Amino acid sequence: QKTWVRMVTAQTPTNIAVIKYWGKRDETLILPVNDSISVTLDPAHLCTITTVAVSPSFDQDRMWLNGKEISLSGGRYQNCLREIRARACEVEDKEKGIKIAKNDWEKLHVHVASYNNFPTAAGLASSAAGFACLVFALAKLMKAKEDNSELSAIARQGSGSACRSLFGGFVKWIMGKAEDGSDSLAVQLVDEKHWDELVIIIAVVSSRQKETSSTTGMRDSVETSLLLQHRAKEVVPKRIKQMEEAIKNRDFGSFAQLTCADSNQFHAVCLDTCPPIFYMNDTSHRQVKFLVSCQCASHSRSSSKFYMKCDDTKMVAYTFDAGPNAVLIAHNRKAATQLLQKLLFCFPPSSDADLNSYVIGDKSILK
Ligand code: PMV
Repeated sequence: QKTWVRMVTAQTPTNIAVIKYWGKRDETLILPVNDSISVTLDPAHLCTITTVAVSPSFDQDRMWLNGKEISLSGGRYQNCLREIRARACEVEDKEKGIKIAKNDWEKLHVHVASYNNFPTAAGLASSAAGFACLVFALAKLMKAKEDNSELSAIARQGSGSACRSLFGGFVKWIMGKAEDGSDSLAVQLVDEKHWDELVIIIAVVSSRQKETSSTTGMRDSVETSLLLQHRAKEVVPKRIKQMEEAIKNRDFGSFAQLTCADSNQFHAVCLDTCPPIFYMNDTSHRQVKFLVSCQCASHSRSSSKFYMKCDDTKMVAYTFDAGPNAVLIAHNRKAATQLLQKLLFCFPPSSDADLNSYVIGDKSILK
């Protein structure tokens, strides 16, 4: 009997939160305790590429991540597969002799091959790009008609931060109020052209997998951190408004101040958790000290070991996710170049040191 394979490939960039999501109010549906805002990286930069295929000859759903087979039996994968299958539509490709009726999708199996061009689970939001890409590719394969915000609510059930990777530019994940999670989805605040002079540099401090997964860390923080309660109720709602304003007006000073403050508070919540969580390491702390001393360079900090006369690099936004890698946002290419020169001088990358590499723009990866 003649068989066929239908394939779709998608590429999805990762995103970095500038106002962090930390804490779930519902662990199964992945509903957060606060809104969050992120910037989506250049798709040619840190991304996941996923190919999904369907064929009557496949006898089970299977997935390979970076060439190694992984299990799809986990609830998160199953939720995404089930939700997309429920929205699948009829597909017809006369040339290839393919006709899949709406109801056939329940019986057909898929194969998924996914590749990250950056370290997996090292605090570089690999699950964000991964689940967003999986959901997007499956939706295309099955001709689901949902728009990206509706798809984001499905990607959210794979990994919370994944919902923000379905859009470019700056994206807000609205926490929502509904118990079923139907209004907990991502919306684009501005597209990638709105503030395209920003340059993101990632200092890959360590590509090792993190010790505490975000799932465990968030659970412990929700259960034990009073600072998390205060942050979710009193701090983030105001910060979200201020951040939206800063982005709309391309006000880099406010943007940088809010980004750094929010990263600091997220890591303070981690320390306030029992047992405490340490995502940043000594190199991360030295980098913050270095960046702060740059910002204060015009004041009396000349005795500091990290002192350097900074001009354009004075305002640099830094943020750290659930890992030790620094994500630095410079306000333009000139500032980024100056910053990178200084970083290379103070924190030279090498394979046996704590700092592995810098990733900048869409091309140069310095090893
Ligand atoms: O979506 P998760 O479970 O990988 O959690 C991501 C949490 C942070 O990266 C630390 C913050 C965020 O908003 O992305």
